[in-house]
Amino acid sequence: MLKPILIGISPNIQADDVWLALKLLFKPHIWQSGPGLAKLTRAIKQYFPGYYCYLVNAGRTALYLALKSLELKPGDEVIHLDFTCDVVPEAVVKAGGIPVPVKDLTRPKITPRTKALIAQHTFGVPDDLTKLQAICRQYRLVLIEDCAHSLGASYQGKPVGSFGDLAVLSFGRDKVISSVFGGALLSRKALVLPQLAYPGKGWIVKQLFHPLLMSVAVPTYFYGGKLLIWLARSLGLITLPLKALPAALMPNALAQLALNQWGKLNQLNRHRQTLARYYAQSLKLSFDQQGIYLRYPVSVGQPKAVIAAGKLKHLLLGNWYENKLVNLPTHIKINLADARRVTEFIKKYV
Ligand SMILES: Cc1ncc(COP(=O)(O)O)c(C=O)c1O
Repeated sequence: MLKPILIGISPNIQADDVWLALKLLFKPHIWQSGPGLAKLTRAIKQYFPGYYCYLVNAGRTALYLALKSLELKPGDEVIHLDFTCDVVPEAVVKAGGIPVPVKDLTRPKITPRTKALIAQHTFGVPDDLTKLQAICRQYRLVLIEDCAHSLGASYQGKPVGSFGDLAVLSFGRDKVISSVFGGALLSRKALVLPQLAYPGKGWIVKQLFHPLLMSVAVPTYFYGGKLLIWLARSLGLITLPLKALPAALMPNALAQLALNQWGKLNQLNRHRQTLARYYAQSLKLSFDQQGIYLRYPVSVGQPKAVIAAGKLKHLLLGNWYENKLVNLPTHIKINLADARRVTEFIKKYV
């Protein structure tokens, strides 16, 4: 059986995470509140000293709360990259602002209504924070670092996320570390946030079931696993990543999963860097030592056609975000032999 190489579909989940999810399934009394929340908060605050940390149910919730804390007035603008996930402009609108997408954050369209700029560190490669900080200082903008792709990357020796006034982390299923859903808002100042509740137990149980299902469906993806995922989705047993998600607190069960992954952050990222360096060398492309490469982006003429051709070879490559790129996998389930298979396939398109 040819090993499936999948860019996403809960790539960070390993046996210990599955075992933990299984144990948590039998402890409904600690699904909502429990000791994992304080432990995860402590770990994050140690990593980002000087920041307050608020745990929530997703990165998009953290971004929404970050923007909400700015008390935007009608007409206020927030600059973000045009190359982004829909949830970013959606969060701006939800917080009462006008999203202003730009190609290059270091050349933003600033007007008297501009209030904030969102750095993105796309694919885990740090933005030019020196320039972005200078722009924000000059125009008195709030700098928000969206670290959904980049937890663990550094810029001039300091972790990304420790340069902005506010920063956002995501622990979504395809992110740097995963608890299926989850996120954190970091702030240099204590914030008064809207009152949020824990998600219901019905929602939490689905998220705990997710790693169990994926542990079976991912290795067998092209041999029935895909069907299993489709079936679970159709029966409402798992939740789609981009389905509308009401803002809520992070529940303890997911904080426990995130905490377990937090302990593996360096290991997961070192692995990503090794594979990204390998792709860069094999394909003669760039590699930034400071980046953690959540995915390795490669420019190709016709990404959709390349992705379709990959599927025939049991390679599921990524298309974040529908541009001229395909994304190569760097996660822990991909070894160097797999990365060789990927480069052999992709090199004729690059
Ligand atoms: C750049 C960026 N920011 C924020 C998010 C939001 O993360 P979450 O899925 O945890 O809401 C995503 C996720 O897709 C993203 O790609």
